Amino acid sequence: MQYVNKESEIQRSQSIRIQMNRTETNDVNGSSCVKRIKLSQDVPDQESLYATLRKVEEWLQPFRLPKEKLREVSARLRKDLIRGLGKHTHHRAPVKMLPTFVRATPDGTEKGDFLALDLGGTNFRVLHVRVVEEQQKMVKMDSKICAIPQEIMLGPGEQLFDHIAACLSEFLESLGLKGHTLPLGFTFSFPCEQIDIDKCILIRWTKGFNCSGVEGEDVVKLCPVCHSVLPMAIHRRGDYDISSVAMLNDTVGTMMTCGYRDKSCEIGMIIGTGTNACYMEEMKNVKRVEGEDGRMCINTEWGGFGDDGSLKDILTEFDVEVDRSSLNPGVHTFEKMISGMYLGEIVRLILVKLAQEKMLFGGEVSEALLTPDKFETRYISEIEDDATGLARAQDILSELELPAGPEDCAVVHLVCSTISTRSAELTAAALATVVNRIRNNRGLNHLCTTVGVDGTVYKKHPKFSHRLHDTVHILAPKCDISFLLSEDGSGKGAAMVTAVAQRLAMQSRLLEESEGEDEDEEDEDNEEEDN
Ligand code: BGC
Repeated sequence: MQYVNKESEIQRSQSIRIQMNRTETNDVNGSSCVKRIKLSQDVPDQESLYATLRKVEEWLQPFRLPKEKLREVSARLRKDLIRGLGKHTHHRAPVKMLPTFVRATPDGTEKGDFLALDLGGTNFRVLHVRVVEEQQKMVKMDSKICAIPQEIMLGPGEQLFDHIAACLSEFLESLGLKGHTLPLGFTFSFPCEQIDIDKCILIRWTKGFNCSGVEGEDVVKLCPVCHSVLPMAIHRRGDYDISSVAMLNDTVGTMMTCGYRDKSCEIGMIIGTGTNACYMEEMKNVKRVEGEDGRMCINTEWGGFGDDGSLKDILTEFDVEVDRSSLNPGVHTFEKMISGMYLGEIVRLILVKLAQEKMLFGGEVSEALLTPDKFETRYISEIEDDATGLARAQDILSELELPAGPEDCAVVHLVCSTISTRSAELTAAALATVVNRIRNNRGLNHLCTTVGVDGTVYKKHPKFSHRLHDTVHILAPKCDISFLLSEDGSGKGAAMVTAVAQRLAMQSRLLEESEGEDEDEEDEDNEEEDN
């Protein structure tokens, strides 16, 4: 890896040019660490820099997880998946393993026009999607984004759903679609207990949402007289109608859009603001839903892993602090070690501590560095970029009013890569658990499968995906995993889930009709025989 720092003021003025060769190798425990750091030219006192980096590296050890520890983490999650699926163990299980009532992935015959809603971050989106059977593709016809201001994210639920309904109304108006009845897929990316494809009860808000009066409520019901929140918001406006609703999680949307392109895609994974995965589980293991045949997609909600204290041995004081100061202390422990909403904050807390311990910024901290959430997660991706990372670090640190020299930039880089590596490796441990489970479920020696993936951390970080792939390969050696990047799984996936639900409903209607005809024919035959 090479870092060439060209732009930054301070380096120009001091005519310092850093070229670092850093190799990440495995230490005896198998965890990734900095083995060799070589600086070329002009850096004042290279020896002192090496010494500082070695000291910081040692200090960061609690964040380095040897492969053996990752295997242990994976084994704990395996037990939690089983607890989450069990009829009698589910209610206490931290990993909820929620049935989604999605029983099939696309078969390519789906078609039609759909409306899709997507809520899961600071924006709400509404889309008009056309699924074209002949060309096997999904076309996003139009879409509209509405920001969700913080006061709405934290206000009454009714206000949130009114905001959504108003956005939808404007969208339909602008397209001249008012009065048309289109099936609706709603990607609602929070943990929900689904009772059917069109009934889902919000278990809890995550990712900075905390609207009152929604937790424990059914988010959607088609019947206007029932007490759900969204349809009432839609019907309150009274100017448009919707023929059917499918509710889904963003992981499911991701799996379904990727499944349309690759039939072996049976896992959906998100590593963005939050993290989660879904996969196709054998019905006989889904103890809370009747029926033994076939498969159903399970939304694992793996973000909740560790909420019962099972990850205590790997939590650092910084993880504990991030949790304590979050909107939802005590919940989504795993998510808080992994996802974009929290990584920047973990790094910020570490930088403050390193400065206080005189290993950084000459022992100084700025007002900005002491402000929660000031160190954004995207900075980690930028700083870890091989070509421009160190220059960018310099700029970011001066934006944060920190007196940073080249040595500080190298230390900050080391902190960022440690935290993002831990995130990638923990995600790999969780994914390995899921693929190993699918392989065991099917009694296979070897599993070939595809994971549909979305999320800014996975897509934007320059090294995250490689680290994840390498580690999952080690932890699940009998599985060949392909990773397929989802293109707008949350939006188009909503249309796809609705389309598949409609296809299945149509198929079972046709089956019932033909069974009815068979019965009629049998009755007629019996009558003829009687005569
Ligand atoms: C939510 C999941 C969601 C994930 C990714 C988590 O906070 O609980 O439902 O899939 O974020 O968006």
